[in-house]
Parts: sequence; C-alpha cells; structure tokens
Amino acid sequence: MNAQIDHNLEEIRRFRPAPEFAAQAVASPELYDAAASDRLGFWADQARELLTWSKPFTRTLDWTNPPFATWFDDGELNVAYNCLDRHVEEGNGDRVALHFEGEPGDSRAITYAELTAEVKRAANALIALGVEPGDRVAIYLPLIPEAVVAMLACARIGAVHSVVFGGFSSQSLSSRIDDAEAHVVITADGGYRKGRVFPLKPTVDEAVAAAETEVRAVIVVERTGAEVEWTDRDVRWSEAMADASSEHTALPFNAEHPLFILYTSGTTGKPKGILHTSGGYLTQTAFTHKNVFDLHPERDVYWCTADVGWITGHSYVVYGPLANGATQVIYEGTPDTPHAGRWWEIIEKYGVTIFYTAPTAIRSFMKLGRQIPHGFNLRSLRLLGSVGEPINPEAWIWYRHVIGGGSIPVVDTWWQTETGAIMISALPGVTDLKPGSAQVAVPGISIDILSDEGEPVEGVGGGLLVVTEPWPSMLRGIWGDPDRFRETYWEKFGDKYFAGDGARRDEDGDIWLLGRVDDVMNVSGHRLSTAEIESSLVAHPFTAEAAVVGASDETTGQAVVAFVILKERQTAGLDIATASEELRAHVAKQIGAIARPRQVFIVGELPKTRSGKIMRRLLRDLAEGRQVGDTTTLADTSVMTAITEQVR
Ligand code: WTA
Repeated sequence: MNAQIDHNLEEIRRFRPAPEFAAQAVASPELYDAAASDRLGFWADQARELLTWSKPFTRTLDWTNPPFATWFDDGELNVAYNCLDRHVEEGNGDRVALHFEGEPGDSRAITYAELTAEVKRAANALIALGVEPGDRVAIYLPLIPEAVVAMLACARIGAVHSVVFGGFSSQSLSSRIDDAEAHVVITADGGYRKGRVFPLKPTVDEAVAAAETEVRAVIVVERTGAEVEWTDRDVRWSEAMADASSEHTALPFNAEHPLFILYTSGTTGKPKGILHTSGGYLTQTAFTHKNVFDLHPERDVYWCTADVGWITGHSYVVYGPLANGATQVIYEGTPDTPHAGRWWEIIEKYGVTIFYTAPTAIRSFMKLGRQIPHGFNLRSLRLLGSVGEPINPEAWIWYRHVIGGGSIPVVDTWWQTETGAIMISALPGVTDLKPGSAQVAVPGISIDILSDEGEPVEGVGGGLLVVTEPWPSMLRGIWGDPDRFRETYWEKFGDKYFAGDGARRDEDGDIWLLGRVDDVMNVSGHRLSTAEIESSLVAHPFTAEAAVVGASDETTGQAVVAFVILKERQTAGLDIATASEELRAHVAKQIGAIARPRQVFIVGELPKTRSGKIMRRLLRDLAEGRQVGDTTTLADTSVMTAITEQVR
C-alpha cells in the first residue's frame, strides 16, 4: 500500500483538454466562479435550471439544526415526473431512454414515452396494493428494465424504495426488510449471471419467512421462467401491470420528501440505512451527471456499468441520467459472459460515447490483455469515468489508451453512498487531468483535509477528508438511528462531515484519495465491514474467535482475509482446509458472495493489546506478506511468531 502511494505521489503526467473537446464541453470555468462567489445562489440556480418544480422554492439551505440539513424545503416536485413525463412533454418521447442488453443476448430499446407509460402502470399497481406515500418498498431485482421502472414507480407515488443488491443473501435481505419495515417486496423469479439462472424468488421467500415485518405482497417479475413456488401474497408483475391503467398524474411532494434508503456497510456489524430525499438529491445528481460526463443528451449514448443495488446505480443509472433525458445502456450480466469481450461488444453495438466503470474492472481487463478490446470498434467513445476506489496511474493510462484510443478525457470521481452524488472530480474540457488523482471538488462543494485533531492541513500534506459545508445531495440521516448518524459522521469534527477516507493534497492543490481510515474494506469497489464479517464468522459453530482485515489485492483493490480460532469441541479431527473452506462458504451464504473471504487462516491465537484489543495492523502485515510491524504493545509478544508460522 505504501509503495503504491509513494508511486502515485510521484505521478507527474498531466493532460491538457483537447481543444476540440473543450470547444464543445458542457462544463466551463465559469461554474467555479459562480459557485465561489455565491455558493447557495449557485445551487439554487442549478435546481431551477435542471429540474421542473411544481411549486418553486424560496429557501435554499436550512442549516440551523446541524447535522440535519434541508434544501429547497418549501419547494415541491415529483422526481419521476422530472425523469420521465417532462421529456415526453418536451417532444423527446421517441428518444431511447434504455437500451437493455440481457446476458443471454436478448435486448429491448425503451423510449422515454414507453418508460413513462410503464412507470405509470407500475405506480397504479403499487397503489392498488395499498402502497402509500412514505411507505417503504424493498426491491430485489437483477439489472433489468423493471428495476428502473420499480424505483421510479415508488418515486412517483412518494413511496421510499430500499433496493437490495441481488447478490445479497436472504439473511441480509431479511434484516433490511425489518430495518425499513417494508411491507411490499418487488423481485424476479431470477436473473442471468455467468451463463446461468440465479434464483431470487426462493431467497425472498426465505427472507420474508424470517422477517419480523409482515410482508403483504411480493411482486414477481418473470425474467427467466424458472419454476417458483407461489403463495397467497405473491403477485405476478405481468398481471399487476396488465390490470393497471397507464394513466397516472404525478403528484408533487415536498423537496425533503424521502426518496430512498440504501444500506451500506459501516464500522459495526449492522449495515446503515442511508436516507436520501428528493429535491437536493436530484439537483446534484443531474448537475454532476451533466457536467462531469459532458452529457449532450441528443447525441450521446451513456453507459454506467453499476448495478442498481449500489449508489452508483441509483445516482448514475437511474436518477441523474434520466433527469437529464439521456440515452443509456443497461446490461444485466457479467463482463466475461459468454466471452471476455462482452463489454466491448456492447460498446460497439450501441455506439457508446460515455463509459463509467470501476478500477477493479479495468485492472482485470488489463490482466487479460489489450487484444480483447482491440477486437472491437471502440471509436464511438469520447469520455471515460472511474468510481469506487482509487485508480492507480497505470490503470488510468491503460484505460485512456487501450479503451479510449489515447486522447479522450478520463474522469476519476470520488463520492460515497452518503454523499449521494459526485463530490470530487475533474471537469472534462476544463481541468488538466492527472492520472491517479481525483483532483478537485466539483463546483459548489467544499472539501478540506484535516489533521486528526481537526486542524486544516495547509498546502501540501495528508490527513482526513472532510466536507466543510452542507451539499444538496447529502444524506439526511441513517434510517431510524439519528444518534448513529451524529456519531459516525459529525462527532469527530463538529459541523464538518467526516468521510472516513484518508487524502493528500499535492503541490497543485489536487486531491489524492488514500483509502479508508476505518474498519471498512473496499473489495472490487464494494464496501464491506470487517465487523460484519467477523460477526458472521463468530456465528458459525466452529468459531471461537475471528479477526478480519482488508489486504491489498492486485485485482480487487482489497480482499477479505480472516484469522480464525476454532472451537476444539466442535472441530476435533477436522482438517484445517475443510474448516477454512466451510467458513468461507458460510460467510458467502450469510452475507453474500461478495463478502466471501479470499482466505481463512486457522490460527491458535490472535494478537491482542494488554487491554484486549485485536491488533489488525499486524494481521494486515501478515496477509500482505510484509515483515510484521512493531509488536511491543502486544500483551504477549511471541504470539505473532506463532501465528506467522501457522499461516505460512
Ligand atoms: C471509495 C461509491 C478513491 C472511498 C460511489 C469511499 C473512492 C467509498 C473513489 C464509498 C475514488 C469511491 N477514489 N476512493 N474515485 N470513489 N471511493 O459508498 O473509500 O460504495 O469512502 O460509494 O469508496 O463507497 P460507496
């Protein structure tokens, strides 16, 4: 990690915007000037320009009760109307909203007019099931058009969606249903992944049976035709849609009306339900989508590879692009099915111009070699984006050259589930690009780097990343847990938002992200909590004690590595390989396949301080194959030697 950081910090390559690009760029340097001279006025202008308000707002920000902000709070709008109807009313109903590509090769083009009609029907179907404004609806779907329709249908009637990534286990789904008290679930019989059908409905049945919340209805999209068991509460999506009218007038809701809850991992074992509301969220997602991706909606074909189960899918597949009237591609499956060039084939097929993905994907393509993308025509591309974790300069350069043909902008965008929208990024056509650095705060966003004591780091230096002023798309809280909201983000630095990331500012004022400073891991751009995986391991009858660390990994950024002490009573006679395999599978089953540890080391002891705290730093040294660091604070300094032998 340190070698990597040093290497990054030596990075001095700089790319000026190409004049042809700059000449047509959506963003301009004036955005920075406008935001600097009147930050709130700037956001108010963006909100008025980018969105259609049913009732105009007169107040921009209320920050009299920090950390609880409200934006545009006397205004009213309908988020779905902004993403759909108004484009049709403006004469763009025939524009394709979604080019859907299924993994088996089926495809569908859905225009704005068609998408609007489908969302109206789905809204009526939800109303018919008794869903009211403010009710929570859980969505557990593959990346198919119905996922977008379901989210927008909730938004349209003021229901709050809670999308749960289809790779999460029944237990994860069940705890999310309970935390949000969702009485309706929208799912599918299954989806396609890696050339196979993966079932979803049985997982929902298990989750609903385990949940304390009474789930009244489960709406099932028939995606794969797989046999599923039907119960009284199940409703077929096709039937509910056929019964519903395609007439529905979108009612206005207050700008602070809740839009969605999205669960993300924190430092404790329990995922946090991040709450986002309507007007501010839509303003900043639309603004950043337009300016960071240089969107020309009448001619661009945009593709963000994220699943709607993550925040990137919410902000940059659903809300930002659709608010801006973009044409986009959504793809259900994995990048390597049925062949390693599938993504590049999709770019060629649809003439994708703007492409947004994660460094982990770029690194795995680098490993496979440039001959694969070179087998396709990628000349339509004119802008590339990256999100989810730091992109190392090598991957940045490879992305720009091999995928982008060598001269198009690459924007590295830093943000979080909590920030709702992009916070740090270059603006294409305006900013000189520097590989490996996320660079500068977007206009209207105030970022700083503080020392652990809360002192601003002046000039060149490293510390903790904070947002110093409230922003429109900021989280409004953690669902049902205002204390945790305060403690997690605001206790450390008062009214400055503590992001949990380390960062460094270089000579040019550019920001380099250095990874999480808490017990949150980043595996393939997905956030996982060490505590959550530890409690899963400890819940297994084999386990006496467990410690989990995120070890750096060439492809996935970080990988989950666990150290487990077995209970002798349960495991006498069991060989270590079997125990370790069983525990890996157990975590995958309990949380989801993304949480499966890369390695589970069975050890005799764990390194602890005199006060009994596990020293994860030493375990990380071991997992990364480094010389184990300073052990003098251990209660028993010989422990690490023993563990090292057991691991090697
Ligand atoms: C990390 C994803 C470096 C960071 C949008 C953050 C990044 C966490 C970048 C949020 C980037 C995201 N450079 N690190 N461009 N983008 N991160 O909530 O550690 O899934 O705190 O949101 O990902 O992950 P989340």
